[in-house]
Amino acid sequence: MDTITRLSALLADCMKTVWPEAEGLPAAEEIRGLLAVPPDPALGDYAFPCFRLAKPLRTAPPKIAEAVCSAWTHGDLASVQPVNGYLNFFLNRENFAAETMAALQQGGDRYGASDLGAGKTICLDYSSINIAKRFHIGHLSTTMIGHSLKRIFDYLGYTTVGINHLGDWGTQFGKMICAYKKWGTKEQVEQGGVDAMTELYVRFHKEAEADPSLEDEGRAWFKKIEDGDPEAMEIFTWFKDVTLKDAAKVYEKLDVTFDSYAGESFYNDKMEPVIRELREKGLLVQSQGAWVVDLEEDHMPPCLIVKSDGATIYATRDLAAAIYRQNTYHFDKCLYVVAYQQDLHFRQVFRVLEKMGYPWAKDCVHVAFGMISFEGEALSTRKGNVVHLEDLLDQAVAKAREIIEEKSPNLENKDEVARQVGIGAVIYTDLSNNRIKDIDFRWDRALNFDGESGPYVQYTHARCCSVLRKAGDLSGVSPDWSALTDDEAQALLRLLSRFPDVIRDAADKYEPSMITRAVTDIAQAYNKYYYEHRILDGEPAQAAARVALTDAVRRVIRTGLWLIGIEAPERM
Ligand code: ARG
Repeated sequence: MDTITRLSALLADCMKTVWPEAEGLPAAEEIRGLLAVPPDPALGDYAFPCFRLAKPLRTAPPKIAEAVCSAWTHGDLASVQPVNGYLNFFLNRENFAAETMAALQQGGDRYGASDLGAGKTICLDYSSINIAKRFHIGHLSTTMIGHSLKRIFDYLGYTTVGINHLGDWGTQFGKMICAYKKWGTKEQVEQGGVDAMTELYVRFHKEAEADPSLEDEGRAWFKKIEDGDPEAMEIFTWFKDVTLKDAAKVYEKLDVTFDSYAGESFYNDKMEPVIRELREKGLLVQSQGAWVVDLEEDHMPPCLIVKSDGATIYATRDLAAAIYRQNTYHFDKCLYVVAYQQDLHFRQVFRVLEKMGYPWAKDCVHVAFGMISFEGEALSTRKGNVVHLEDLLDQAVAKAREIIEEKSPNLENKDEVARQVGIGAVIYTDLSNNRIKDIDFRWDRALNFDGESGPYVQYTHARCCSVLRKAGDLSGVSPDWSALTDDEAQALLRLLSRFPDVIRDAADKYEPSMITRAVTDIAQAYNKYYYEHRILDGEPAQAAARVALTDAVRRVIRTGLWLIGIEAPERM
């Protein structure tokens, strides 16, 4: 058991001995959550606010603090002082160092992993790109948040299913085929890939302005896809292959994978039963020729199911997809990592599932995120203002290569490191803030080796590796943990001891940025430690303790970076 868990348990017991009759006292777990690190180290290593007890005990917090302090008998673990209604705990530093290091060493490369999720399945719908569209940086967040959450849940013992819910359905594909038949060539699409398809699509719209009958032709082609006409299907499947081949390059660079590519078209033959079920359950009502589910009592616009021309829409396919996923994977949670603009869509879909009587509707979660702009400019496909993700990643690697050339001219595998650093810089930026916040991607910030950035954290990892290489083999020396009682080592140990909690919190809140924050804090704390202390000097047993701490930092940073999808080079 780690020190803070033990402290929380003892504090819970202590309260019970002081007030044996009282009801509503916090349990150990709640106490653990309430223990905070005071901003000023003079106020202790951890502080517990007694305000939480004022109500159940009907006593003023300062009085409560004093009563607990007089009854506290665990000075070997921590001494305690009452200050203004707070209990300020001062850990026995040597004991804290020994316990934390023991937990870190026991955890090894899987420190913070658990079997919390054993037997539970999480479906994650992420990336979910659209066919015939370039992978632009607007799809970066869904891809990386989803990928990171998948790794986090895996690490906590869940079974995860990564789903790329491809946008491969809709009248636009009819229009594209129509344009291709009129103006396109096979070579053009083979060579130009998605860009050629986009050109065709843009041309279709231009020409349709002058000749509106094109719209009907486009619709007719889509109808052919729906009916499985061989020619239409062949072209459509080919468009899809070309798009996925393009996307595969990006996924490979980001090391992102999926367990399923079942996209919108996969549900083509699975919607009829859903529509029937909605009708049988009396949920479908007619509205201006269309069939909808009324959501007025939920203060939402109706959820459109079948359009007046008989076509199904995005929401219908999402209903079919959710039901299919539950029947196939029996998920405990189904996460939709999709931009916040689709908030209403998901609220409607989840509510309709609930109305259909599916109790698991409450396990569907929209994991929303904000927008990304690039050097201060918003992205818009219509204005042609898009940044292609593949180009961005390539540029990041090239820029990282230049910096590395300058900083470490003698490094052996510069290309490999530049790849890890460049890609890492982009991912770090994407996962550095609370996901709902908008992001402005800027090169100078992403690649700033001294700021809060991917390269900075990676550099700290490489620094740890370098210290360990210099230290050589110390396995014969038993570490003297009293060497880790200084302020800098203790600050570092506190962060490391919290890391398993951070992973769990990140999973609970679907928030990879909590891990980004944690590895950044640890990197900063280690660099501070590194500048203030001579790690390899002095008594061997003391050096061994500092080296063991360095090794623990190396492992935790590596794990943390892995959880957010970033590699950790050993030399930079
Ligand atoms: N393809 C959609 C888009 O790019 C996202 C799909 C999200 N997933 C879902 N099940 N609706 O906007």
